[in-house]
Amino acid sequence: MSGANTVNEQRLWQRHADMARLGGTPRGGVNRQALSPEDAAARNQLAAWARARGFEVFTDPIGNLFVRRAGSDPQAAPVMSGSHMDSQPTGGRFDGMYGVLAAFEALEALEDAGIATRRPVMAVAWTNEEGSRFQPGAMGSAVFANPDRLDGMLAQKDWEGVRLEDALAETLKAAPAPMRDAPGFPVEAYVEAHIEQGPRLENEHRTIGVVTAIQGSRRYIVSIDGEEAHAGTTPRAARKDAFAAATRLAAALYDATTDPDDTLRFTIGRVEVSPGSPNTVPGKVRFTIDMRHPDDGVLAEREAAIERLVAEKTRPCTATLEKIGNMPPTHFDPRVIGLVRDTAQGLGLRHMDMPSGAGHDAMHIARLCPAGMIFVPCERGISHNEIENATPQDLAAGTRVLVEVLETLANR
Ligand code: GLV
Ligand code: MN
Ligand code: MN
Repeated sequence: MSGANTVNEQRLWQRHADMARLGGTPRGGVNRQALSPEDAAARNQLAAWARARGFEVFTDPIGNLFVRRAGSDPQAAPVMSGSHMDSQPTGGRFDGMYGVLAAFEALEALEDAGIATRRPVMAVAWTNEEGSRFQPGAMGSAVFANPDRLDGMLAQKDWEGVRLEDALAETLKAAPAPMRDAPGFPVEAYVEAHIEQGPRLENEHRTIGVVTAIQGSRRYIVSIDGEEAHAGTTPRAARKDAFAAATRLAAALYDATTDPDDTLRFTIGRVEVSPGSPNTVPGKVRFTIDMRHPDDGVLAEREAAIERLVAEKTRPCTATLEKIGNMPPTHFDPRVIGLVRDTAQGLGLRHMDMPSGAGHDAMHIARLCPAGMIFVPCERGISHNEIENATPQDLAAGTRVLVEVLETLANR
């Protein structure tokens, strides 16, 4: 008997529906920003389900939420699985949440089957993976893997100037859990389930993506300073128009990051124009850059080009480029990759090896212990969108692979 037999497709689907109500949007998606009241509600929901099953629940100083099913060997390090419960502002119901609920379903399936494992098996909801409110993303897992980063993260501010430390304190007050005194503890292995967020599995009629790697990414904030002036009276030549400079720079950046292979990804996702009045020449612009490629060398080379263009294209304004994220490519552990592949094969599921274009918490945890990921298809590959969708059958299939993988790892 394996826990895969007791994965409950209906329960897993219902849990997604229950969570989707917390921060639910009219178009069927979710807006559950990191450390918001909606995030606190999701934490309370997960903790309530966990306590009802008799699992231990605790948190750490960056707010990661852990659920632990005990093993038979009290000395043994746990195997862990999870993802995130925060979302994009117009996010879907599966990005991140699937990985948390699949991990929790794995614990429940083991419990339902009455299976004892040598190691504890843990589910985790990492704090602020999306990085849409607080920078950088994948923050909880970054601190777990490197506790020295805690103070820097607590000092981060959101776009409105709210300190992360304050938002976290509010969240933990609304969603209390026993607190560990320090972030990070030994983990034997980590496996994260996630929707693919791209179209390959669907196009190739595969149920399971065996994830081999995550491409590298860098993130920046460009700040341009000009001079506010009257829109009706100030001649063009006398203006220091920060938005005009931003459009020249943005056009040059799109050109400089065009890739004939379409491998390099370049996105300007947030633009703030200040003071935001129709009849004042904008004095300040701030925008974000998100850039990704499997080869860190390519990112370094394009970064140099970006630095040059920021200086060249923004005159007569002045501009700065602040790097707020730098994640080299991740290569998952060959043994975990092999185990995921063999398990999918053994369960009779069509599978394929693939790298991830999106970032995940697993990229930090892979620096701590052997790690891997399991992808399942999402409709038309659409994600970071309220219409993101997946089938109950595929979500359950990915969870069956996850349970068996965790069970194997937990008995090593
Ligand atoms: C996570 O959502 C990412 O930006 O890859
Ligand atoms: Mn995600
Ligand atoms: Mn995401």
